[in-house]
Amino acid sequence: MHRRSFLKGAGIVTILVAGGAVWRAEDQGVFSVGQGPAYQPWRDWQTDASTGPLALVRAGILAASPHNTQPWLFRVTNSSIELYADTKRNTGALDPYLREQHISLGCALENLMLAAGASGYSASVSLLPGKLEPSPANQQQLVARVELAPGARQKNELYDVIPLRHTNRNPYDPKRAIPPDVAGALAGLVTDEPNVKLFLFEADSDRKKIAGIISTANNVLYADPEVQHGS
Ligand SMILES: Cc1cc2nc3c(=O)[nH]c(=O)nc-3n(C[C@H](O)[C@H](O)[C@H](O)COP(=O)(O)O)c2cc1C
Repeated sequence: MHRRSFLKGAGIVTILVAGGAVWRAEDQGVFSVGQGPAYQPWRDWQTDASTGPLALVRAGILAASPHNTQPWLFRVTNSSIELYADTKRNTGALDPYLREQHISLGCALENLMLAAGASGYSASVSLLPGKLEPSPANQQQLVARVELAPGARQKNELYDVIPLRHTNRNPYDPKRAIPPDVAGALAGLVTDEPNVKLFLFEADSDRKKIAGIISTANNVLYADPEVQHGS
């Protein structure tokens, strides 16, 4: 069962969204480019008849995750949502301390909080303390609790673009130039961030050099059988 599609039929108040049946990615078209059943949750996220806090989960599950592991579980009631790490959905030696996994849980939480405002909730989040440790086997770890109360409906431009953020799974096209306005927009992102430096390598020779370095590093990384297995 696709973790993102699971919500399609869920209309109950308290649920634990957990993997269960075997889901075969190929059958669900997850490797197809921008279409097929794997993309349904992006189309349905607002139009499905979702009431209450489940609408927030629909936004949460559209978040990015390392290797599409979707390592999240939600416990939903009428007035709260708990977010759990599903530690068994890890990428092994690629992410031994579950650092990337926790980044993706943060992405899901961010989407969820944006949706809370847009859905007319006042939401307060408590993050549980924790540290990055070697991956615990098959655990569900509580990482955040969101308390929900009625509030003013708030629109947010980041909320509006939630369904636009996903990989298109097209091959990279090294010949395609980056439009100048995109480069300008990227540079503009860090003007208010004194501790962040952005380097844009636009010359063809620089781009080739960097692509070569990344490719070499990737080959070294994936020569490790444990990394291959985790991946
Ligand atoms: C912490 C983190 C690390 C990621 N690293 C890579 C990466 O190295 N290369 C890549 O192509 N995508 C990377 N991704 C993107 C995921 O592959 C992508 O989010 C996932 O396949 C789900 O697809 P979606 O974003 O379209 O939902 C990363 C995502 C996260 C959250």
